Amino acid sequence: MKKVAPNSILPLLSLFLFSSALHGESSSIARMYDAIFNFGDSLSDTGNFLRSGALAFPVIGRLPYGETFFGHATGRCSDGRLIVDYITEAFGLPHIAPYLEIVQTGKQVKTGVNYAVSGATALDSQFFYAQGLGPLVWTNDSLSVQLGWFKKYKSSMCSTKQECDRYFKKSLFLVGEIGGNDYNYPFFIGGSIKQARALVPLVVGAITNAITVLIEEGAADLMVPGNLPIGCSAVYLTIFSRTANKSDYDPRTGCLKAYNALARYHNQQLMQSLQALRLKYPHARIIYADYYGAAMRLYHTPKRFGFYEGTLRACCGGGGPFNFNNSARCGHIGSSACSNPSAFVNWDGIHLTDAAYRHISEGLMHGPFTSPPLLYDIPDLRKRLL
Ligand SMILES: *[C@@H]1O[C@H](CO)[C@@H](O)[C@H](O)[C@H]1NC(C)=O
Ligand SMILES: *[C@@H]1O[C@H](CO)[C@@H](O)[C@H](O)[C@H]1NC(C)=O
Ligand SMILES: *[C@@H]1O[C@H](CO)[C@@H](O)[C@H](O)[C@H]1NC(C)=O
Repeated sequence: MKKVAPNSILPLLSLFLFSSALHGESSSIARMYDAIFNFGDSLSDTGNFLRSGALAFPVIGRLPYGETFFGHATGRCSDGRLIVDYITEAFGLPHIAPYLEIVQTGKQVKTGVNYAVSGATALDSQFFYAQGLGPLVWTNDSLSVQLGWFKKYKSSMCSTKQECDRYFKKSLFLVGEIGGNDYNYPFFIGGSIKQARALVPLVVGAITNAITVLIEEGAADLMVPGNLPIGCSAVYLTIFSRTANKSDYDPRTGCLKAYNALARYHNQQLMQSLQALRLKYPHARIIYADYYGAAMRLYHTPKRFGFYEGTLRACCGGGGPFNFNNSARCGHIGSSACSNPSAFVNWDGIHLTDAAYRHISEGLMHGPFTSPPLLYDIPDLRKRLL
């Protein structure tokens, strides 16, 4: 056996010291932001849709929704926390309250507001009504409505422009994920990939406008997520299995290639648009969050993340090859939830589990899936905040 030279311990020791120094850094990040503001759809709604009536989806107000983490339903479309919850936890902030709860209860909040609404679109709902998709649209609280709420509530958070600028400069703005529903609604009535591709510039334009408005309102740090790999979702796999043939599936993951390609196309367009915004607003820090890449890891190496039940079948549902049955969706009669949600990526056919969102969040915060990194280039951030 080869003897270990005494001096080879030195680099090891300094590596250890270096990594604990990094650790010290990351705990100081915990107070890097005073508040988090979130806009989006069911991937980040922490209770607005439920308080708006939730006529299209009342089951999110009952167990098994919320069973894993909260022990009761909160209006989140999952068994537990969402990505926005993991991010606020990482920054040492409380889970951000839904806007409609804040206005209904009159409670004062300083640590941020969540404006996201399940079913929301990036484009105004009228766009979908005009195309005869009205009956499918869950909510009219699109991105521009959410921005309106933000502007309306602004005076409760800060009064002078100077005060608002100071507050927003120490806030993180999460703009999305939003846009997934703009493609879902047309796809669910048989729309083609070609039609969806034609929507991409409009959807990306709406997201770009929202970012512009927020920067003009004083936002300095923004994170903008792209779309998830929708071709891996149980609802898409169920609906499109009728018309798909073997060559339509990715042999490695079992996901539908064309729908994932659409998500990537949306993401590329979004990234280009963010690059243009960075040139226009050099003082703003605009982070792209690669939800697609962070989620794809789970489909490629599920066991590494503890997803022993496979990746494509939903935990909660009413039967069928992917456990998604539109006549017995999760929470409805004829459906049931699995006993081990953390072994599943997919929660209810459409949304992901607490465990999947946790691994995606870790990929965003500690992995390579945010650009520029959400957590790492702190000296730069610190300089700006001082
Ligand atoms: C959305 O607005 C349309 C009119 O544009 C209305 O008919 C519909 O009831 C609204 N939907 C919801 C969920 O409020
Ligand atoms: C399978 O579907 C693709 C397009 O979705 C088509 O190009 C191909 O010809 C189909 N193959 C068979 C054997 O039907
Ligand atoms: C879907 O749910 C309906 C209603 O509960 C049920 O009759 C049907 O058998 C289910 N389909 C599958 C494939 O399990």
